[in-house]
Amino acid sequence: MGALTGFLLFLGLHFASATPLALTERQSNAPLVTWNGRQYQCKCYKTDACWPATSVWSALNTTVGGNLKKVVPVGATCYSSFEGRNTYNQQQCSTANSNWAKEDWQADQEVTNMWTFWTNNTCNPNINARNQVCTIGHLPEYVIMAKTKEHIKAGVDFARTNNIRLIIRNTGHDFMGRSTGFGALAINTHSFKSVNFVQNYAGPGTYKGTAVTVGAGIQVRELYRLANQQSPKVVVVGGECPTVGLAGGYIQGGGHGPMATYYGMAADNALNFEVVTAAGDIINANEVDNPDLFWGLKGGGPSTFGAIISVTVKTFPEVPTAGATLSINTQDQNKFWQGVTAFHNLANHYVENGMFVYYELSGMSLTVQPFVGPNMNKAKIDEVLKPLFDKLRSLNVPFQSSSRDFPTFFDLYTAMFQDEGAGFSGLVGGRMFTRQDIAQNGDRIVNNGYKTVVGGGGAGGFSVIIGHIVGPGTGLPTVDNAIHPAWRNASSFSITMVNVEGNAPLSQKAQAQDRLTNVIDKALRDASPNGAAYVNEGNLEEPNWQQAFWGSNYPRLLELRKKWDPAGVFYARTTPGTEDWETIESGSRLCKRI
Ligand SMILES: Cc1cc2nc3c(=O)[nH]c(=O)nc-3n(C[C@H](O)[C@H](O)[C@H](O)COP(=O)(O)OP(=O)(O)OC[C@H]3O[C@@H](n4cnc5c(N)ncnc54)[C@H](O)[C@@H]3O)c2cc1C
Ligand SMILES: *[C@@H]1O[C@H](CO)[C@@H](O)[C@H](O)[C@H]1NC(C)=O
Ligand SMILES: *[C@@H]1O[C@H](CO)[C@@H](O)[C@H](O)[C@H]1NC(C)=O
Ligand SMILES: *[C@@H]1O[C@H](CO)[C@@H](O)[C@H](O)[C@H]1NC(C)=O
Repeated sequence: MGALTGFLLFLGLHFASATPLALTERQSNAPLVTWNGRQYQCKCYKTDACWPATSVWSALNTTVGGNLKKVVPVGATCYSSFEGRNTYNQQQCSTANSNWAKEDWQADQEVTNMWTFWTNNTCNPNINARNQVCTIGHLPEYVIMAKTKEHIKAGVDFARTNNIRLIIRNTGHDFMGRSTGFGALAINTHSFKSVNFVQNYAGPGTYKGTAVTVGAGIQVRELYRLANQQSPKVVVVGGECPTVGLAGGYIQGGGHGPMATYYGMAADNALNFEVVTAAGDIINANEVDNPDLFWGLKGGGPSTFGAIISVTVKTFPEVPTAGATLSINTQDQNKFWQGVTAFHNLANHYVENGMFVYYELSGMSLTVQPFVGPNMNKAKIDEVLKPLFDKLRSLNVPFQSSSRDFPTFFDLYTAMFQDEGAGFSGLVGGRMFTRQDIAQNGDRIVNNGYKTVVGGGGAGGFSVIIGHIVGPGTGLPTVDNAIHPAWRNASSFSITMVNVEGNAPLSQKAQAQDRLTNVIDKALRDASPNGAAYVNEGNLEEPNWQQAFWGSNYPRLLELRKKWDPAGVFYARTTPGTEDWETIESGSRLCKRI
């Protein structure tokens, strides 16, 4: 057991209360392992007798049209060798090094994860690393660069039959490391770029109207752009981040974003999923076909029920959209926090006006960019934001702001949202606040919560809030799906992020995780009795994660998991039905407690 897991176990936090998954299908070849006095049956790894022979991997390679690759970390070109082969190449190393912090480039790689913590910080492309050792770390062993749905199916079948850990890797964005895994077979879905807009979606299901079907590899900005090129122009609910995939982890976890207050969560707008199940069947899930699976895929968690090939979602009319910015930078702590409180306490007001707001809070700096006002012009957004500016002026809080309007949401999106970085190491947590929490506890959320996050050093060091004002239930009809019902009351969602080096000693990683869970996130939880947590941007050590991520929907999700993946072909930590699974030996081998 890792020091980290052990530490939290010691605190009595690790074992949440859900019913263990019945051992319905015992893998006959699963290695039995005793670790820290516990018995496990594990997936097969390279060092096990049950690891497939080279000829078996070759046969898989044939099935997937030669698209199976042995993973060589992209940073290996900076090191003299990897697994006994010379790998150093100055030019390729320099390319990898200079692109490492770019999300677009990372998304195009076979298996990198944007958060190096989760690869065990392995073989990063440092230009001075030539004499250091490059290891595979927590990257997969093999990856199928899937080109067809049959390739995805072949990967799922291979992992199930051979008891190999399976990872689906789309863009590598996962803050919680779920698109990488030690010793695994990965399926990369990045090449699935098909897009088909229709004016008259006619089912299956009751919805009639405009829609788009996208392949698993489509990323948010490319979809926004294509939507804006339709006639008439349309919009899709996607994330604020340009390079997150729509059909992968994003929509399966729920999916909030700039148009989510106005048009609902991404998962609220799903009409059909084409999916490879754990059994290897290629099926559709929608209102009519496999409706139970359809319900679960709409928010039940990434890689929980199957591998998505494509998803169909509603599209909506484009609207003129206004944007605004706000920044507060002052060394006067009192004024600064008064300003942050004034801004955040108006969350209900913003969402009641259909707005989404993205902001970053660190040190003594609040940067709000942008406020998004769908169906507003400059005059209107200025009017909606007037109570905020009046309040800041009355408090004598120094601030800067600007506003303008755009002909469409897409024009605002390209002008006002910024690309984010990648390639750093950190731990993520977070909390969603409801309208009730904001109304009753707004001051406390900021003064006890946010201040705790960015206020004080302590173990784990630097930490920030990445904030979203989003209210996907404000004035919209409720959709029956798996996302936490509290999202219908949501008003604000904050990511908490603690910096910790990927190569830090385990004790230091455990300390950072402890601070995140038991100081930072605890302060936010305590201030939001009606709130919830978000599986895509949450804390892997979230206490009672089943309840925190899904609330009253959890028991149904657990049943669905037992039905659709009884043997645990898929695995992503803190998703339904994974209570008995653990990555033992410091986050490496995936095993099930028996
Ligand atoms: C900079 C940044 C900004 C973000 N902004 C937003 C935002 O605005 N709104 C929001 O809701 N979230 C946001 N997220 C979180 C994002 O939704 C999750 O990280 C999401 O899991 C990413 O999905 P992906 O498929 O792009 O990434 P990956 O890391 O490739 O995959 C994430 C998870 O989904 C699984 N998965 C991927 N593809 C498939 C597939 N085809 N079938 C089955 N499972 C699959 C993976 O196995 C993994 O568990 C952001 C994340 C980052 C890093
Ligand atoms: C799979 O086949 C392709 C094409 O023959 C080859 O380039 C590749 O190295 C093979 N992969 C493995 C893991 O052997
Ligand atoms: C992970 O990194 C630690 C050092 O930080 C190392 O001791 C351990 O062997 C690594 N594990 C793997 C699987 O690479
Ligand atoms: C949403 O808010 C309403 C009104 O405050 C409350 O009755 C309901 O229980 C809340 N729903 C959830 C899931 O918290």
